[in-house]
Amino acid sequence: MKCLNKWHRRASDRVHVVEDAAIYQQRSVDMEALVLDARYSWIRQRGLGARREHDNIRRYRLLSWAFDLVAAWGWLKYWVWFLLKRPSGRERLGIGILGTVFFGGVHPLLKIAHEGVTSWTALAVLYAAPLAARHKTGWRWAVFRLWMGHPECQAVRNRLLEVADRVHDELERLWVTRPDQEIHIASLACGSAAAVLWATWFYCQAHPAARVRVTLVDLDAYSLEMVNRLAAELGLSVRTLEVNIGAFVRQCQASGEKFALVDETGFLDYRPDADFVENCRTVRAIIAPGGLFLAAQIGRSRTQAHRKWTIGWLMLIPRSSKRLRELLQQSGYAQAQIDEHTEPNGIYHVAACRVEA
Ligand SMILES: C[S@@+](CC[C@H](N)C(=O)[O-])C[C@H]1O[C@@H](n2cnc3c(N)ncnc32)[C@H](O)[C@@H]1O
Repeated sequence: MKCLNKWHRRASDRVHVVEDAAIYQQRSVDMEALVLDARYSWIRQRGLGARREHDNIRRYRLLSWAFDLVAAWGWLKYWVWFLLKRPSGRERLGIGILGTVFFGGVHPLLKIAHEGVTSWTALAVLYAAPLAARHKTGWRWAVFRLWMGHPECQAVRNRLLEVADRVHDELERLWVTRPDQEIHIASLACGSAAAVLWATWFYCQAHPAARVRVTLVDLDAYSLEMVNRLAAELGLSVRTLEVNIGAFVRQCQASGEKFALVDETGFLDYRPDADFVENCRTVRAIIAPGGLFLAAQIGRSRTQAHRKWTIGWLMLIPRSSKRLRELLQQSGYAQAQIDEHTEPNGIYHVAACRVEA
């Protein structure tokens, strides 16, 4: 029976090991402070339109052999364990196996970044890292800084800045074209929802009379609790829904609810091609005419082995910007409607897709 239920589940509802990974997320009071305390907010400090990170590249090139060796060690450990144990489902994430003294063993925040995999907590470490490590001394913090300054981590923060800018630009555009209307925006698999919340906060600071309704959807109750707390800190009122994206989209289709902007960054790069296309197609149906869809895709890079075998983000499916465009086109967006941009490390691609008016 269990087997049959699984078979009948619609593809967009299929529970993926990445969703299961959220169970590794531990409640962490230290992390909560990092996210809720404005002193650690990367976006707030950098402001909108901030310069993207592309720093110390020569240093990382010179050290790449050392990072490669650590990644090779992670790769070897994983495959020996995989062949001996033949793990299934979420076990394949190999959390314990991939953990290494060179990363999680050095600093508790690195351990959280590794074990949280795709979750709110892991992203919070990355987003807060530059400010959390400021003025800290000692070799553990030095190693923390080295890892968190790695181009792969810079790229994730650049994605955050890029998405915040895109959301803010769209809110400003709508303010000019229809200032009296309430704007409905949504973030699906919102995780930290940091980009959407901060962009909305900046926008509301500039236009106190503006009305924005923000809907945040995630499967993970802890993420949503933190998102609600951050929204309260920022004085924003948001609607959070603990539900699968597929079920949410069906609810919206049934009720006719549509959004001016839907952000789904940080979700699609875990989806195989067919799921990616099916998901984007169904989400497109809940975007209002003339509305915007935001997607992001991690790409292939010289350092992707470090990301995969040391940091431990095993389930990401890297794709080129060309492939990202192809999949978005298969999802119903015309070439001319896709505005795609790659951050300066060449690792993350962010695409803004316009639905016809
Ligand atoms: C990488 S994070 C999202 C990143 C987020 N946009 C950010 O920048 O913070 C992935 C999130 O997707 C959520 N998630 C994964 N699959 C989901 C699904 N099918 N429905 C809803 N949420 C999902 C996870 O719980 C996790 O919080």
